[in-house]
Amino acid sequence: MAIRLSTARLAAAVANEGGIGLIAASGMEEWELRSEIRLARKLTNGKGIIGINCMVAARAFKHLITTAAQEKIDLIVAGAGFSRDIFAVGREYGVEVVPIVSSVKLAKISEKLGASAIVVEGTEAGGHLGTQQSIKELVPEIVAAVHIPVIAAGGAVCGADVAELLKLGASGVQMGSRFAASEESNGAPSLKEFYLKMTKEDVVQIDSPVGYKGRAILNPFAKLSLEGKAPKPVTCDACLKHCKQNFCIIRALTRAQQGDVDTGLVFTGANMWKIKEILPVKEIFRRIKEEVAAVAD
Ligand SMILES: Cc1cc2nc3c(=O)[nH]c(=O)nc-3n(C[C@H](O)[C@H](O)[C@H](O)COP(=O)(O)O)c2cc1C
Repeated sequence: MAIRLSTARLAAAVANEGGIGLIAASGMEEWELRSEIRLARKLTNGKGIIGINCMVAARAFKHLITTAAQEKIDLIVAGAGFSRDIFAVGREYGVEVVPIVSSVKLAKISEKLGASAIVVEGTEAGGHLGTQQSIKELVPEIVAAVHIPVIAAGGAVCGADVAELLKLGASGVQMGSRFAASEESNGAPSLKEFYLKMTKEDVVQIDSPVGYKGRAILNPFAKLSLEGKAPKPVTCDACLKHCKQNFCIIRALTRAQQGDVDTGLVFTGANMWKIKEILPVKEIFRRIKEEVAAVAD
């Protein structure tokens, strides 16, 4: 989760519990990404699985994924666009490639190009959306169409949600919101408190400058964005390959990460409002495992 919500501390905590911990590379400088990867390796004693996630739409995409590959990252996950470059980098450095897709077509193309697995994101996901289709419809369709593992993402905040997606055929589940509201998430305390206060009615979709809908909390910034009145970029770092310039997304997401929940863009999954406590990653995993086991009994 960019910008800088999923950093080494969160990724390492997830990996230490047996999950796959991802560092959000979008918006990072090369040196920063290198040091986050090294820190995550240190925090996991070189065990566990650590990957990076990067937005294909970022101008620095190829540079960042190559940097991560040079650091011997275990896997590269890429969304907000589709890239063929990633497969060449994966082959060159022997890194597993996991594209994020939201259609049968892109799932099949990913498999053909050599993806180790795919993350399938449904409309319930937080952040940029590639579809308005529910994850519960997408998973069975895509599982039937490919032979590689399908990791379902969107709307899972507890063990019962995870169990449901596994029952639909997913091999794993990617969770964003639940971990954005964890102790190890790199968001400011006021951002995490804001997540706990939100209601179901606060979930909206804004038009992201990246060219996709973005699922976010209806705060003053999102209101302005929905009215087409969000402040236009004053300075520009040209961080995107194509930018609609309706606002500066990197600065809007950074403001949220730093705790400015009025002028920041606060990305959220559709079910974040169900989360009532900020928990350590260890406890999140304990509860999920317990709940999944209870459903299986
Ligand atoms: C605050 C936030 C930031 C996110 N940032 C990214 C990102 O940088 N790259 C990405 O591929 N997905 C991003 N996502 C999507 C998540 O990786 C995940 O697929 C999605 O949130 C799953 O849905 P859930 O939040 O209901 O668990 C983000 C989600 C949230 C909530």
